[in-house]
Amino acid sequence: MRPLVVKLGGSVITDKRRPFVVKRAILKRLARELAAAKVPLVIVHGGGSFGHPVASKYGIAEGYKNKNQRMGLSLTHRAMERLNANVIEALQKAGLPAIAVQPSACAVVSGGQIQSMELAPIQKLLELGLVPVLYGDAVPDLSKGMSILSGDQIVAYLARELKSSRVVLGVDVNGVCTADPKKFKSAKLVRRITPAGEKFVASLGAGKGKDVTGRMGNKVRELLALAERGVEAEIVNATKPGVLKRAVQGERGLGTVVEG
Ligand code: IPE
Repeated sequence: MRPLVVKLGGSVITDKRRPFVVKRAILKRLARELAAAKVPLVIVHGGGSFGHPVASKYGIAEGYKNKNQRMGLSLTHRAMERLNANVIEALQKAGLPAIAVQPSACAVVSGGQIQSMELAPIQKLLELGLVPVLYGDAVPDLSKGMSILSGDQIVAYLARELKSSRVVLGVDVNGVCTADPKKFKSAKLVRRITPAGEKFVASLGAGKGKDVTGRMGNKVRELLALAERGVEAEIVNATKPGVLKRAVQGERGLGTVVEG
């Protein structure tokens, strides 16, 4: 039972410019595309315009500093639950027996990093033929008090621990580019990244954008650590109809492949 771990980026399924707005038509299409997979799936989704604005308003990623953040943690988590409910319903309508697994209740996090995660229920769900769905979450943090656990980190952790065959990250650009493709027309798609491309990855930066969990640089770093353990990943454009479907059915070379 080697599941395929798929991430739906927050900017693919939500409207980043409008808080708490789901891109319903896209989510519906992606649910159908995922239902075409012929292997067991674990799905993880990001926060988009649900999790990120609330998390940054309360400074959750900076750790526990003041009492207001208690409500902040509660509200960020609730925002993610609301998005998650939308994802689960879309998957169910597409015929997938999806079930939410709450990261803040099963991951032990310290310093923003997963130390361990309760995997037995997820493994049992997979064995039963269900589709566990996790998400980036606001979590208790053993050293910082609280932090934001990104969906990307969950993907990397699960892929490693569940001995995943492959990882597919669906994002809203064609893959990793030489510059921000939304700002520079000259940006070129990078077809393949290996641990030898360390310098290039460093040039992607830590992703200090609006997103509390960082951008492409962090993604690639998570995937490279995974590649070194023999799990191949591909970052593909999930906003283009059919691309995610082809990727989950095993096609390679649709975006950026990250391999060891
Ligand atoms: C962030 O998850 C979750 C919260 C802000 C609570 P991700 O970092 O995986 O989300 P996206 O994909 O970048 O939106």
